[in-house]
Amino acid sequence: MSTTRDLKALTPPDIAARKGQTPLVALTAYTTPMAQLVDAHCDIVLVGDSVGMVVHGLPSTLQVTLDMMILHGRAVRRGVERALLVVDMPFGSFEESPQQAFRSAARIMTETEAGAVKLEGGETMAETIAFLTRRGIPVMAHIGLTPQAVNTLGGYRVQGRGADAERILRDGRAVAEAGAFSVVVEKVPGVLAARLTAECPIPTIGIGASSACDGQILVIDDMLGVFTAFKPKFVKTYADLATIADGAIAAYAAEVRERRFPGPEHAFGDARGAPTPANGA
Ligand code: KIV
Repeated sequence: MSTTRDLKALTPPDIAARKGQTPLVALTAYTTPMAQLVDAHCDIVLVGDSVGMVVHGLPSTLQVTLDMMILHGRAVRRGVERALLVVDMPFGSFEESPQQAFRSAARIMTETEAGAVKLEGGETMAETIAFLTRRGIPVMAHIGLTPQAVNTLGGYRVQGRGADAERILRDGRAVAEAGAFSVVVEKVPGVLAARLTAECPIPTIGIGASSACDGQILVIDDMLGVFTAFKPKFVKTYADLATIADGAIAAYAAEVRERRFPGPEHAFGDARGAPTPANGA
């Protein structure tokens, strides 16, 4: 294990101490090269279970396994030096009991060297969050729209409208009291996010929850325009990598078909095997 990395890395208490200060910046990552790019600019790198949909083409996050999270967590770990690395607990790996959650979280922490885990759920998960944090596992909670509950919620719609706001506020209070060091708040009205952020003693990290939160998170493939199957309203596309990649692949295909690639500078000797000045062979 690299001690240099550990000395520089942000910790869960560092993140908790940022409550009410300069907004925290978080993005997801699933591979080493992307983790390196994200680490250079972000406070938190999340290996989200969104990996199932944006990388593996699964229909929802429900099919993501603990082994998948650990594999991607290990890849991302190799690219993160400064940010706090957080790995999502997938559906089915923690809901049964605090003991089940501890066994799964302990695997994540030891096999990926993450600094914390994230799990979905508010009041109902408070006992589990307390169980984990008292045993040395820092927890980032996730309330509001919790995509692993898509079937009981009946879709991916905005949460906490009208009287339902009280439920989200109770969830925020419960996870903070249970010891979570921060909480992701997904897809709730801005006015509710502002109230929650004011009342909650830990940083709120919003996704579709307005600029009132203590920080923001997005899925990297969404904000880079790589994942285009659908685009939630809360996503801002900062680059259109799918279009750039499409153009590059089309150019490659054309050049191969026209025998323009590889050129002499990419080959070892000319087509008859003779060395050429261009390729230095
Ligand atoms: O899985 C994920 O990427 C997430 C973020 C959207 C917060 O949970």
